[in-house]
Amino acid sequence: MKIVDWKNSVNELELKDIGNCLESGGLVIFPTETVYGIGALATNRNAVDNIFIAKGRANDNPLIVHLSNKEEINKYAYISNDVEKKLIDSFMPGPFTIILKKKEIIPNNVSAGFDTVGIRIPSNYIANKILSYNNLPIAAPSANISGRPSGTNINDIINEFKDKVDYIIDGNNTDIGVESTVVKVINDIPVILRPGFITKEDIMNTIGIVKVDDNIFKKAVGKVESPGMKYKHYAPKSECKLVYFKDKNKLINYFKENSNKETVIIGSSLLNSIPCKEFLCYGDSLEEISHNIFSLLRKADIYEPKIILIEGVSTDNLGLAIMNRLIRACNYNYIGDKF
Ligand code: TXA
Ligand code: MG
Repeated sequence: MKIVDWKNSVNELELKDIGNCLESGGLVIFPTETVYGIGALATNRNAVDNIFIAKGRANDNPLIVHLSNKEEINKYAYISNDVEKKLIDSFMPGPFTIILKKKEIIPNNVSAGFDTVGIRIPSNYIANKILSYNNLPIAAPSANISGRPSGTNINDIINEFKDKVDYIIDGNNTDIGVESTVVKVINDIPVILRPGFITKEDIMNTIGIVKVDDNIFKKAVGKVESPGMKYKHYAPKSECKLVYFKDKNKLINYFKENSNKETVIIGSSLLNSIPCKEFLCYGDSLEEISHNIFSLLRKADIYEPKIILIEGVSTDNLGLAIMNRLIRACNYNYIGDKF
């Protein structure tokens, strides 16, 4: 395994080695604007199997295929209607994944047996360099052992994957911090299967209509549109509880009354003077929270608390993606206002 440092610039010789490694079936961890991905050549069935093994991922959970540009899409999938076309034109490249009808060339293990495939064109410079090398289609789930918070911080990633992949590319901590918005067009309506940085408000403004899948705040079971929603996800090892009251005094009081020497708090600067084992500040804007949240969920475990109490946010805009990740991290352990 080799770690390459591309924080300041891409090394063209290393790029060639990495491109060749992917082409011959290797596994490469690379940064995107959302989270790190663990990638393999999407058209190589064995290489794709190795992703599932490295992550310990259930094989009924399909992978997203990453491409270098929009012209590549029709090699792998069908754009079937104007809504799909408009979403692609408006939000790609960027933190957005569209589920399209797949072409034969995509192996069944990538799509987990579905007749669709998730397509994403990252805007991150390093990701684009790799994808543009021979225009390889790269299947890449988030770089984390299944069930754990997604990898946004290079040290977390090295700890988890150092013996399991061929290359890790260090491109600094990722910018956005939560994974892409996953959208499927059903009967001409864009349906958000996983909320992300491209918000329901953004899609509403562009298409004029949008739905959010019921399962984003529920424990999904059985057959669902996006199998990722069925699984335990983003979870620290310690017990967690999510707390959200619109009324800030009520919120502060709850934390005051329920924190002690055994409690780690993750929240905004509102809570920074509450006595507890450790206070981890996730910032005061939705962008900061999304950037910091996964690495803080991992960090909180280091203190081995009895419980991690996490401050929730309103589900407007990027808040929807943040609450979707937090409710799962807490295994649906929630107290507060209805949202
Ligand atoms: O930002 C991201 O999307 C990151 C970076 C690396 O690009 N990738 C990522 O992949 O988060 P992953 O595998 O961790 O999450 C993919 C999600 C899962 O919830 C999966 O169930 C859903 O997308 N998905 C993938 N293909 C699908 C399909 N054909 N139909 C429905 N859902 C799909
Ligand atoms: Mg993931």
